[in-house]
Amino acid sequence: MSRIVLGVAGGVAAYKAALLLRALTEAGHDVRVVPTPGALHFVGAATFEALSGHPVTTDVWSDVPEVAHVRIGQTADLVVVAPATADLLARAAAGRADDLLTATLLTAHCPVVFVPAMHTEMWLHPATQDNVATLRRRGSVVLPPAVGRLTGPDSGPGRLPEPHDVAALAQVALTAGPDALRADLAGRRVVVSAGGTREPLDPVRYLGNRSSGKQGWALARVAAARGADVTLVAANVDLPAPFGVRVVPVGTAEELRAAVLAEAPDADVVVMTAAVADFRPATVAAAKLKKKDDPAEVPEVRLVRNPDVLAELVTKRAAGQLVVGFAAETGDADGDVLAHARAKLARKGCDLLVVNDVSGGGVFGRPDNAAVVLAADGSATQVPHGSKDAVAAAVWQTVLPRLA
Ligand SMILES: Cc1cc2nc3c(=O)[nH]c(=O)nc-3n(C[C@H](O)[C@H](O)[C@H](O)COP(=O)(O)O)c2cc1C
Repeated sequence: MSRIVLGVAGGVAAYKAALLLRALTEAGHDVRVVPTPGALHFVGAATFEALSGHPVTTDVWSDVPEVAHVRIGQTADLVVVAPATADLLARAAAGRADDLLTATLLTAHCPVVFVPAMHTEMWLHPATQDNVATLRRRGSVVLPPAVGRLTGPDSGPGRLPEPHDVAALAQVALTAGPDALRADLAGRRVVVSAGGTREPLDPVRYLGNRSSGKQGWALARVAAARGADVTLVAANVDLPAPFGVRVVPVGTAEELRAAVLAEAPDADVVVMTAAVADFRPATVAAAKLKKKDDPAEVPEVRLVRNPDVLAELVTKRAAGQLVVGFAAETGDADGDVLAHARAKLARKGCDLLVVNDVSGGGVFGRPDNAAVVLAADGSATQVPHGSKDAVAAAVWQTVLPRLA
């Protein structure tokens, strides 16, 4: 359980803060809401008090013996300000302490995540952009706003991301630290493949694998939060699209190949997290394969090779494009996990290979992971055991200095 301060400023999206509060408390966190006086024009203090189980005040003159304006910030593990209005960003950038929320921001030692929401004109105004740059330079995370319908009939950048997306990114900041959400992939185009392909045997059966898509989802989520334009080619993943990410659903290895090759040409980075089947049934029965009366009579399934999408990406890649592969390896009589992975890196010719040791079967579907990132230049970076978001952040950290 972490102690989270949820700052709420006076924008119409303040109503979404109640749902965000709910998502954070349901994830097991202790959340203290600190609204601005403006926020209480939109949502009543009683809502935040009832949902958080804590009293709500907006100024520094309540509970004076508690010295709330210092203590709330000092004891927090994370501060999330959602929505962050143009006014709140300006006051935070100026270092003001004219209400409890801005005072809290000045005393917080922990990661601070601002989630802006305002009309497009306010967001794009040089004054707001300067304030965002100032806050980022000082180490705060300022997420890019979502693009979509605003308060009225108009739409554009400035919308608050959905509460479950903000909650997921708050979790990234808690487990991977604020560096995971730096805006250092702005202007970059990223393609991530995720999930596991399914190769049909007949209309109801398929050959599949145990990839859940969670690691690919984390890579896409973190890249989008860092400002990249992200397309996620998803093979059979039953998860909601991460905030700001375009999802292209596919089923088989052939479909995945077509989608990835169509998306790759103008990408700066292609990350192949998906578990693509090496083999598929040579023929797909038009009708369901039936049991015969004789129990000894069972169908023989002949397999044929699927295309090697990673190797093809490497051959066709544009100048300066980085191709990152993933390898789920087990050790055997021919070598340990790293030996197999080094051989795979050399064989495929990709720039980086993220290696998961799946010997114990402890990776698929779990929220956590550990990895080694091997580079074509021979270096190996250990990624310690942590959340899949933390592993994703570490992978982007290795990719960044290699981008042209
Ligand atoms: C109906 C209404 C909706 C508003 N929505 C926003 C908004 O989405 N974003 C924003 O930056 N300001 C918005 N404002 C303006 C802010 O409320 C105003 O700048 C206020 O000073 C913000 O104070 P605070 O950030 O301290 O809460 C809105 C005002 C009104 C009356």
